Amino acid sequence: MIEHIEGAADAALVRVAAAATADEVRALEAELLGKRGPFAGFKSGLAGLATVDEKRSAGQAVNDATAAVAEGLDLRRRELAKAERATQLAAERIDLTEVMTRPRRGHAHVVTQAWERLEDVFIGLGFQIAEGQHVETDWYNFEALNMPRDHPARSMHDTFYVQHGEEGEPGSTVLRTHTSPVQIRVMQTVPPPIYMVMPGRVFRNETTDATHLAVFHQLEGLVIDRGITLADLAGTIESFTKAFFGADFGSRLRPSYFPFTEPSAEFDIQTPSGQWLELGGCGMVHPNVLRAGGLDPEEWSGFAFGFGIDRMAKERHAIADVREMYSNDLRFLEQF
Ligand code: PHE
Repeated sequence: MIEHIEGAADAALVRVAAAATADEVRALEAELLGKRGPFAGFKSGLAGLATVDEKRSAGQAVNDATAAVAEGLDLRRRELAKAERATQLAAERIDLTEVMTRPRRGHAHVVTQAWERLEDVFIGLGFQIAEGQHVETDWYNFEALNMPRDHPARSMHDTFYVQHGEEGEPGSTVLRTHTSPVQIRVMQTVPPPIYMVMPGRVFRNETTDATHLAVFHQLEGLVIDRGITLADLAGTIESFTKAFFGADFGSRLRPSYFPFTEPSAEFDIQTPSGQWLELGGCGMVHPNVLRAGGLDPEEWSGFAFGFGIDRMAKERHAIADVREMYSNDLRFLEQF
C-alpha cells in the first residue's frame, strides 16, 4: 500500500507542476486533496489493514503524501503568480529612451547673460550691487536728479505715467525712465563711501526700432567718497572697458550734458580695429543731487555713469536689430 501511496503522490506532483493557471491549480487541489481524492481513499483503506504496525506506517505515508502534495500546490501557485506579475510588467513597460536621450535645457537670455557678466566685472572692481524699483515717484526719477517740473531735459524722457489710487496726483508716479533714481535711494540709505552699481529695467514711451526699445535695461554706477575727481571717473571707465571687452579696447570721455552731473560726458569705447562706439553717459554728481540724497557736497564728492545693458549685448554679439532679442524666437535665442 505504501508503494501505491508514494506512486500516487509522485503522479499528483507531476500534474501539479504542469498546471498552467491558478484555476487549474485550484481544480487540482479539489481533485487531489478533496473527499473523493486518492489520499482520502487511502485513508479509509487503512481500516482494512491487518496489523497496527501496518496501519501506523501506511497512515504516516498518507500524511506525508498529503503534505507533499499540498506543498507542491502552494509552490506552483506562487510560481504562477510570479510569472503573471512578470508578464504584466513586461506588457505595461513604457520605453522612455526617446524622451530621455535629448533633454532640452534652457539657458539664460542673452541680455541676462550680459547683465550677469557686467555684475561680475564690477564686483571684481570692488563694487556692490543694488536694485531699485520699476515704479518711481516723479521726485526720485526727476526732481531729486536736478530736473524740476519745467526743466527742458524732461522732454528727452518720454515718460509712462502710472495712475495709482483715487487721490494719486496725476503725473506724480512714473515707470522709471532710467536707473538714476536708484542713486538717490542708495545715497539715502547707505552711508558713504559708496561704490555701487545698480542694474535694472527701465521704460520709455517711444516707438521701437532697430536701436530703441520701450522696455530696456540700464546699469547705473555711483561712487561717493572724499576727494573723488574726474580722473577717478575716467580711470574707472577705462578699467571697466578693459575688464569687460578686453585689454585691447580703450575708452574716452566726450563733453556732454546731463542735469544730474556737472561736468558731464558721454563715454565711448574704442574697438581693436580703431572704431569708436558710444556707450553711455557719466559725470561728477551735481551738488543738488548729493543734497537730495542727504549728503553734504562740502564733505562728499563722487561720480556716476549709466549705460544700456541691451546695447552691450547687441554690440558684443553684433546683433543687427535689438527687437530680435525680445521676439521669443528660440532659433535666434539659442545662438547665445
Ligand atoms: N541716466 C542717464 C540716461 O539714462 C545716463 C547717466 C547716468 C548719465 C549717470 C550720467 C550719469 O541717459
